[in-house]
Amino acid sequence: MTPLKAGSTIGILGGGQLGRMLASSAAQLGFDVSIYCPEDDCPAARVAASHTFGQYNDPAALLAWAQSCDVVTYEFENVPVTAAEALIAAGITVRPGAKPLEVSQDRLTEKAFLRECGIPTADFAAVNAPDDIADPIKAFGGKGILKTCRDGYDGKGQVRLEEGDDYVAACKALANAPSILEAFVPFELEVSVIVARDAVGDTLCYDLPRNEHVNGILRRSVVPSNLAEDVVKNACEAAEKLAHALEYVGVLALEFFVMKDGSLMANEFAPRVHNSGHWTPEACATGQFEQHIRAVVGWPLGPVTRFHDVEMLNLLGEEAMVPPEVLSADGVLTLYGKREAKAGRKMGHLVRRRV
Ligand SMILES: Nc1ncnc2c1ncn2[C@@H]1O[C@H](COP(=O)(O)OP(=O)(O)O)[C@@H](O)[C@H]1O
Ligand SMILES: [Mg+2]
Repeated sequence: MTPLKAGSTIGILGGGQLGRMLASSAAQLGFDVSIYCPEDDCPAARVAASHTFGQYNDPAALLAWAQSCDVVTYEFENVPVTAAEALIAAGITVRPGAKPLEVSQDRLTEKAFLRECGIPTADFAAVNAPDDIADPIKAFGGKGILKTCRDGYDGKGQVRLEEGDDYVAACKALANAPSILEAFVPFELEVSVIVARDAVGDTLCYDLPRNEHVNGILRRSVVPSNLAEDVVKNACEAAEKLAHALEYVGVLALEFFVMKDGSLMANEFAPRVHNSGHWTPEACATGQFEQHIRAVVGWPLGPVTRFHDVEMLNLLGEEAMVPPEVLSADGVLTLYGKREAKAGRKMGHLVRRRV
């Protein structure tokens, strides 16, 4: 695909806050955005030039929509692989492609792929029945986390386990879905690499945020991470290796556990812009949303120079529903326009300069 001109139409599969922020950045660069998603009144559609309401498993509707777009991208990783493949087969340019979906949708496939790339991960084992747990959990030193292979997010679909726990109950809590048992990693801290790769294969990594999770949900990201230079270099090299291996075009996030000795273990990656990169529009020359748009339209990446130290705080549930408080907090506020503030739901975020 030759680079697109401003005024072209970018199709985005998915209608959440990431799509909303991508659409806003695309508009700033002069593009029209068309959102395809199965929800009415979704956050992204309300800031986009157009919205097509449709299911992801409706190939005819998807194709008709995609044919009205000059390029198609996605804002969430659970777009069916077959849907992306069907569009590609019909000659639509889909960036970053079907492979990143296929690899990241299943935690077993994902961990195996990371290892194939030479990127270390926690030890893991497939679990299809309670009996599959006893041996690996012993081998992992008696502590693990059981996660559904598919569809987990924000810590959902996970149970912490110790040797001798009730494995039947653990599997039942995950609806006996195909799962992965991971060794529990006694990490010192968590970081992520937000890496962008453009259509000619050039890559850029943002400074690494240090990520604090509460109940499996990202609470706060802080930059700089204050990690040693060689640790940062290792993490960025791993993320670049992953992006190249996936022939990725766009922004992806690779999450890491950092051990006391500075060694790294990759946890998972997201084939999209990422919550831990929400500080980049305010703190960097090019934000992650603009960067993703630049990559998918075939433009060169923008500089990722960071201007100041920064922290990003997620506003969960009712936290975003108290305008006087969030407005009086210093920092730049972003609200996602979600109609309902369910407990723990990501409703917005606040980016604060650190001095
Ligand atoms: N193997 C592990 N050992 C220790 N902590 C973990 C492990 N896996 C996940 N966690 C913790 O749970 C959080 C959420 O898990 P993650 O695998 O990233 O799932 P999600 O898709 O919900 O983000 C991680 O950021 C980390 O804090
Ligand atoms: Mg995660």
